[in-house]
Amino acid sequence: MKITKICCIGAGYVGGPTMAVIAQKCPHIQVTVVDLNEERIAAWNDKDTANIPIYEPGLDTIVAEARGRNLFFSTAVDKAIDEAQIIFISVNTPTKTYGKGKGMAADLKYIELCARQIARVAKDNKIVVEKSTLPVRTAEAIKSILDNTGNGVQFQILSNPEFLAEGTAVSDLLNPDRILIGGDASEEGKKAIQALVDVYSNWVASDKILTTNVWSSELSKLTANAFLAQRISSINAISELCEKTGADVTEVAKAIGMDSRIGSKFLKASVGFGGSCFQKDILNLVYIAKSYGLNQVADYWEQVIIMNDHQKRRFSNTIVQTLYNTVSDKKITFLGWAFKKDTNDTRESAAIYVADDLINEQAKIAVYDPKVSNKQIMNDLNYLETRNAERNANSVSSFTDPYEACQNAHAIAVLTEWDEFTQYDWQKIYDSMQKPAFIFDGRNLLNGPDLKAIGFVYQAIGS
Ligand code: NAI
Repeated sequence: MKITKICCIGAGYVGGPTMAVIAQKCPHIQVTVVDLNEERIAAWNDKDTANIPIYEPGLDTIVAEARGRNLFFSTAVDKAIDEAQIIFISVNTPTKTYGKGKGMAADLKYIELCARQIARVAKDNKIVVEKSTLPVRTAEAIKSILDNTGNGVQFQILSNPEFLAEGTAVSDLLNPDRILIGGDASEEGKKAIQALVDVYSNWVASDKILTTNVWSSELSKLTANAFLAQRISSINAISELCEKTGADVTEVAKAIGMDSRIGSKFLKASVGFGGSCFQKDILNLVYIAKSYGLNQVADYWEQVIIMNDHQKRRFSNTIVQTLYNTVSDKKITFLGWAFKKDTNDTRESAAIYVADDLINEQAKIAVYDPKVSNKQIMNDLNYLETRNAERNANSVSSFTDPYEACQNAHAIAVLTEWDEFTQYDWQKIYDSMQKPAFIFDGRNLLNGPDLKAIGFVYQAIGS
């Protein structure tokens, strides 16, 4: 089948960048990204590509090249579904906040709505691609909805999970480690797989395109995230032991990472992982394991989350203890709010939880993040519902100038590893702070010896 029109439902952190790259690499395919969120679509269509809703290095250039040529952003969901041969579902799949599986299972209501909409609209055969991260066996549910509510047309369901990392989405999409496509073993299934393989083959080498059955593909995405997060929790667990024993976690990480069986990536101790995926996907894995009665499997993976929560809590406790057991009315400056550098995404960022703990201790938090707005920071805190919005607003202020943010602060906490933090005039910052001037480096980013030479009391993770 020759693919000429693709549609993607969901113009978020995955749908937007993924489709932009497909459009750039496949000028012969018309790619339409649709979303219910009018504000988001308007931002994607903003004349100035600096204003697109998602910050990713290099993304604005790709959007500028392809948008209006063969890349379109729209709220006309039905029209895009009707016209497309391949429909990607890239909507959010958050952790359920209600009912059975609350706090653990993936909330699939957005996925089901998409399936029902596709079934209602489709008047010819379609390939439906799960791009969202989904519990294993979701394709079964999607197929049932499509077949039972559709107009008698044929649907093929493929699983094609996305492995991009925010902050490096564009380069990950341009040079993926692998593309995973799961599909049905039937003749029709194989044809659908081949159609999607052909799309990716426009820029990805064939040995990097892996095809599997649907269930392996669905489960591989959850497993990949569980393994990645597990590495962070593993090194963070060792960081606490390092602090007690005089070992240095950076040295330990280097020493173990040089073992080729272990590898050097994802071994950086920190205040804990954040982001919209790791926690929700592991919780989902834990829930699935429990639902099959596999309690040991569930407990094993749940520990990755427990360790991460502990690491965040430990960081805020260290700040309070070091500041003479009281931070009441003390100004504590957060450098960074995003969950990692080079993204404006703040979902599940460690900064939110550390701030929440410190506000409970009556601290005054000042935030500087190069890409995160004050509105987003307040939304994140209010979402926790620990206290009312007014009290959050009284406890947190945000700044567009880092030096102003640090002025008169008792302490600085580094929550995101933005490169620019290493370039600051730290003497100038020191001079403007209360003394002793403390730095808590939650990312082991700054140069400790240099800062100590200036006069800072500098504390990193795991040393
Ligand atoms: P997101 O929240 O940024 O975007 C989802 C978009 O879908 C939103 O703009 C929402 O308005 C839209 N949407 C929801 N229901 C809709 C409907 N019925 N019709 C039209 N639009 C609808 O989410 P994000 O981060 O892009 O994640 C999407 C999926 O991709 C999730 O399953 C996630 O687990 C997965 N994923 C995310 C990665 C990441 O780094 N953020 C990486 C790999 C996978």
